[in-house]
Amino acid sequence: KQPLNIVKMKKMKQDGVPISMLTAYDYPSARLAEEADIDMILVGDSLGNVVLGYDSTIPVTLDDMVYHTRSVARGAEHTFIVADMPFMTYHGSVDESLKGVRRLMQEGHAHAVKLEGGAEIADTVRRIVQAGVPVLGHIGLTPQSVNQIGGYRVQGKDQADAERLMRDAKALEEAGAFAVVLELVTEESAAEITQALSIPTIGIGAGRYCDGQVLVYHDILKYASPYREKRFVKTYADIGTAVREGIAQYVREVKERAFPAEEHIFTTAQKTAAAGPV
Ligand code: KIV
Ligand code: NA
Repeated sequence: KQPLNIVKMKKMKQDGVPISMLTAYDYPSARLAEEADIDMILVGDSLGNVVLGYDSTIPVTLDDMVYHTRSVARGAEHTFIVADMPFMTYHGSVDESLKGVRRLMQEGHAHAVKLEGGAEIADTVRRIVQAGVPVLGHIGLTPQSVNQIGGYRVQGKDQADAERLMRDAKALEEAGAFAVVLELVTEESAAEITQALSIPTIGIGAGRYCDGQVLVYHDILKYASPYREKRFVKTYADIGTAVREGIAQYVREVKERAFPAEEHIFTTAQKTAAAGPV
């Protein structure tokens, strides 16, 4: 399978073919997403919440992102992988930003990076693009700024806010971003931005008219996600329950000495010492 690339993505928008994106954070999640034919994987800094147990994305470091991106790359060798630039790694010097991008690409094996923000980071986006790196924008609710925004709430509700989002989206397109994530944006505002841009919009809680959709792995699979039920998430499987029940059964069987059973043991009379595939 040929991985998607940013040229094909633009063509998908032109042809009205929706782009599917899901987060993944390690080898198994990436492998399963690739086997399910996802178009694009995001190694999101949402890993702070769903994998590392923090209550926001702010504590996530560049080392965390590199480590997880590298694991994802090993699990999904044929899928386009975007890695998040974490909190405060792209607001200082251009050199510092580029150094972070270099690590995510060279050590993490990402194909592209994502940065939160609009017009105010357009110059940084331009410099990264000039270095040959595809950049995914991210506007609307930007979780790294949650303490400034004052909570996780829907963006673009009033005219001024919608106009600001439109300006930010256009600034990112003009700076060379290959697509823009719209997070928690009203359906009307997201539709207008999608119409106005030649690059794809990827929505999360941004309605039906974006060029693609992205959701968080642990959310759609009910995998011990720390969040309350969110309106914009749909549950496609409940692996949390399956995992808990499986472990509980294992615990019971150990306590009852029902496991291991005869088929799981080795004896001196057996001809081979091979324990099976590693
Ligand atoms: O970190 C993440 O998972 C994200 C998506 C919610 C877009 O940035
Ligand atoms: Na993120």
